[in-house]
Amino acid sequence: MRDPRHNIKTGGSDWGADYLGEPDRLPSSSRSLISRLLRLMATEPAFSRARRQMLDALALTVGSRVLEAGSGTGSALPDLIPLVGQRGQIVGVDAAAGFAAEAQSRAETAGWSRVAYVHGDVRSLPFSDDGFDAAFCDKLLLHVGPASRIVAELRRVVRPGGRIGVLEWQPQLAISTSAPELEETFNAVLRQASHWPAAGPNLGRLFLEAGLEEVASRSYLAEAQSLADHPFWPAFLIDQLALFVALGLLADQTARTLAADLRAIDQAGGFRAGLMIWTVVGTKPAGL
Ligand SMILES: C[S@@+](CC[C@H](N)C(=O)[O-])C[C@H]1O[C@@H](n2cnc3c(N)ncnc32)[C@H](O)[C@@H]1O
Repeated sequence: MRDPRHNIKTGGSDWGADYLGEPDRLPSSSRSLISRLLRLMATEPAFSRARRQMLDALALTVGSRVLEAGSGTGSALPDLIPLVGQRGQIVGVDAAAGFAAEAQSRAETAGWSRVAYVHGDVRSLPFSDDGFDAAFCDKLLLHVGPASRIVAELRRVVRPGGRIGVLEWQPQLAISTSAPELEETFNAVLRQASHWPAAGPNLGRLFLEAGLEEVASRSYLAEAQSLADHPFWPAFLIDQLALFVALGLLADQTARTLAADLRAIDQAGGFRAGLMIWTVVGTKPAGL
């Protein structure tokens, strides 16, 4: 099995990214699956609650300018619109031009004009210092780093007194399987597929080391008692296996065995699953 991780070299510094690299280069079937997974993750109740509470803590008001780094297909847009209103400005940056275009058409369909989703790199945000009232990233630090540099970029583009938020989840699920090695196989792939699997519990430390103030962290549990509890669960635990097989992270036979096991346990009524989500919000000191 190939080592899926790679390093991106920019301007002489090493950056790490996960196995996906540039989503624009993936086959369209893999891109569509990721796009569907992002939409479902965003609507799963615990992810949705965590994101909303993190966005609320950014203290946005009508007319605020807010940036999402690694904005993907624009999952956060429906939550942001009521917070910043018609006079506010929502900007998203993503390394995948296809995702940025999907997010922009979502904004246009909703009739929202003061929204711009652009193709860009969180490693070097294409914005001047102090230009936003708040900035955040949602499910980004698992995929690309060093996280300290990304947080430094977010801090740079936010005005003094503005807030920064991060949401991350832990790629270590508790899942009912008939053999412990099946759960471990799934989690091993998730860890291998992540750039920084331990991001979640380290967000508070990261913010304190970045010199941010009023740092507040929270954790959430996403859990299911049936695969049918939310479409996120079958998409994430079963449909996603095809992506792992396509990328050489999982053997086809193992994927079939795991999928069959999860379905059989679910049919018998014994399915349970859970994963942790973490958020942190901090304030850029007035003197920075
Ligand atoms: C898991 S997705 C999350 C997307 C979105 N925040 C959401 O919650 O639906 C991670 C996103 O980070 C983007 N990404 C990865 N590396 C990046 C980089 N260096 N600069 C900008 N975006 C990046 C990917 O293209 C992808 O859209």
